[in-house]
Amino acid sequence: MKQQPSLPQQVKIVEVGPRDGLQNEKEALSAAVKIELVDRLTQAGFANIEAASFVSPKWVPQMATSTEVMAGIARRPGTIYSALTPNMQGFEAALLAKADEVVIFGSASEAFSQKNINCSIAESIARFEGVAKAAKDDGLRLRGSISCAFGCPYQGEVPLDAVADVVGRMRDLGCDEIDIADTIGVATPRKTQAVMARAIEAFHVGGLSGHFHDTYGQALANIYASLELGIAIYHSSVSGLGGCPYAKGATGNVATEDVLYMMNGLGIATGIDLDLVVDASQFISQPLGREGSSRAGNALAAKRTAACR
Ligand code: HMG
Ligand code: MG
Repeated sequence: MKQQPSLPQQVKIVEVGPRDGLQNEKEALSAAVKIELVDRLTQAGFANIEAASFVSPKWVPQMATSTEVMAGIARRPGTIYSALTPNMQGFEAALLAKADEVVIFGSASEAFSQKNINCSIAESIARFEGVAKAAKDDGLRLRGSISCAFGCPYQGEVPLDAVADVVGRMRDLGCDEIDIADTIGVATPRKTQAVMARAIEAFHVGGLSGHFHDTYGQALANIYASLELGIAIYHSSVSGLGGCPYAKGATGNVATEDVLYMMNGLGIATGIDLDLVVDASQFISQPLGREGSSRAGNALAAKRTAACR
């Protein structure tokens, strides 16, 4: 029988719903609701929650309450609360808000870079230099996120060399972690492994994370394909919230409940209580006025209802 690749025994799940999820919701939720969502996720045991984004409120109005959210959350010691910071203005706000980690976000696609952050890839890296240095000087963790690593809504194909090049630039800026993002959810497992293999060559496997949107229903398969390469950090969004305002038609991140259900089944430790994530999903569904999109989450919720009858 062919030898199966061994999978990591434990993974870190970064919950990005409060940022990637809510940035794309039509309903502008109050800071109080966002704070309760983050607190519920903290209680569920996440070691890393992306809670805020210090970007222009004209570009992403949903994130305008980030300062209030960061001030209101009940932090658990040891949990990393991250914030997106596209420039020094964002960094200063994140520092004042006591973010533990700042996220610089670039792209492997020129076209997407222009649409998302209004500058070329090279200009973005130059902009990030100041943020990276300031983060190091202030003792904050630094994460780099690379959009459109598997395909772009504007330019289509994104060459592997382009991904490897941006991974190298983020590495040189001193990133502790680098996210390889499927912004529009187009990747399939073999493509995922091809991109991830190049990223591993350019960085190191322990510092890479998979950020998969689930537009074409491939995210879990792509996570499994990444696990086979030893990648042990994944981003997901409670209830499958999310999308990206600059990638029309892209749906949310892979749902956290689905990822946890798969990890539990594989015997891979996450340290997160799936039942409490289902509670958090039901909580956020109310103000959004719709059921969450997690298959596992909805099945578990239905089982609870049946058990109560
Ligand atoms: P710009 O217009 O080129 O910047 O925006 P600017 O420096 O010329 O400033 C213009 C105005 O924005 C000024 O205000 C600045 O003060 C203000 P005005 O004088 O006109 O009143 N401004 C800011 N305000 C608050 N916080 C700031 C900030 N910076 C400037 N940090 C900028 C450049 C990057 C700021 C803008 O394009 C922007 O905010 N874009 C938003 C991009 C974004 O948030 N996208 C979604 C997140 S990325 C994502 O979802 C992908 C990811 O999930 C991975 C994946 O799935 O691919 C991470
Ligand atoms: Mg995203």
